[in-house]
Amino acid sequence: MTRYDQVQHALTATPKVWLVTGVAGFIGSNLLETLLKLGQHVIGLDNFATGHQHNLDEVKSLVSTEQWTSFHFIQGDICNLEDCRRAMRHPVAGTRAVDHVLHQAALGSVPRSIADPIASNAANVTGFLNMLVAARDADVTSFTYAASSSTYGDHPTLPKVEENIGKPLSPYAVTKYVNELYAEVFAKTYGFKTIGLRYFNVFGKRQDPNGAYAAVIPKWTAAMIHCEDVCINGDGKTSRDFCFIDNTVQMNILAATAPDDAKNEVYNVALGDRTSLNTLFDTLKAALVDCGVTYTKAPVYGDFRAGDVCHSQADISKAQSKLGYAPIHRIYDGIGQAMPWYVRSLS
Ligand SMILES: NC(=O)c1ccc[n+]([C@@H]2O[C@H](COP(=O)([O-])OP(=O)(O)OC[C@H]3O[C@@H](n4cnc5c(N)ncnc54)[C@H](O)[C@@H]3O)[C@@H](O)[C@H]2O)c1
Repeated sequence: MTRYDQVQHALTATPKVWLVTGVAGFIGSNLLETLLKLGQHVIGLDNFATGHQHNLDEVKSLVSTEQWTSFHFIQGDICNLEDCRRAMRHPVAGTRAVDHVLHQAALGSVPRSIADPIASNAANVTGFLNMLVAARDADVTSFTYAASSSTYGDHPTLPKVEENIGKPLSPYAVTKYVNELYAEVFAKTYGFKTIGLRYFNVFGKRQDPNGAYAAVIPKWTAAMIHCEDVCINGDGKTSRDFCFIDNTVQMNILAATAPDDAKNEVYNVALGDRTSLNTLFDTLKAALVDCGVTYTKAPVYGDFRAGDVCHSQADISKAQSKLGYAPIHRIYDGIGQAMPWYVRSLS
């Protein structure tokens, strides 16, 4: 039995109160779905900046009526400290306070942060600090936050090991690194311990395919389904450690329930693998054939994108040894699982 199996059994036996910020987004709504299916009480906070009501509606359709009544949504902004405090003291499950915070709310995307660094800084730095203060004052049991592999910046070594980071390459990377600095300082000055999860390219159902800042997998999948050109930035040899959403959900739950000596740390959340954009293109095409969609166009190659790193691959041994992380989905399985959702949602 893995540590994840044990934790899921324990949570089912003794449900906890969770606060998920960014709950209407891709990762947040997948956390919500898993937690409700485990019989947990969940408070969700979101301002719909990039999240959608339809993500919440979809979760509602996937859980039982009883499970759905354990969810309480607050429309609010983490840039407003009072909204963060309100979420911490929401009367759920009687008068119990929040046990675990999974802080996902932020403005993602490197290009978005280059276009509007002030907006990214407000949500990702001011909002993060508000959440830390509110969680510290509410005396929560655990605080887990979405950090980012962008923190490795220009450090050349592969695979990426948590202790060795370079200089940030974008405003987004600065904001996510500042999260880690604040988290460390909160442990030193207030004894408030957190866990940061450095996500590498996460993908799966409910990842937004629309808009200028869509991530590569949903963006290309949408283009293929609609028979449009797929544009590859650079020569296609750029590589990423693509991580299926179920592995990311697992890491959040493992982190929230981690022993004290595993806290005040950051962990890579990935597969420990590397896939080039050219291989990704072929993989998506093949997965679509299995769903009855044939894409015949060749990719269009463009310029490398500002702020991007060339290659990214994680060393996941720290997460495996300290948190019991056991990723179960490789990229091909994950894409195979996500593809029917994309075909249903986009056709
Ligand atoms: N998806 C990835 O590959 C990836 C990689 C590294 C880090 N991350 C981080 O993971 C987290 C979740 O990302 P995602 O992919 O689910 O993105 P997403 O855009 O789907 O979700 C983010 C959610 O946060 C909400 N939000 C944004 N600003 C807010 C504010 N001021 N107040 C309240 N809610 C706000 C949005 O409305 C959205 O629902 C983010 O912190 C992101 O930076 C994601």
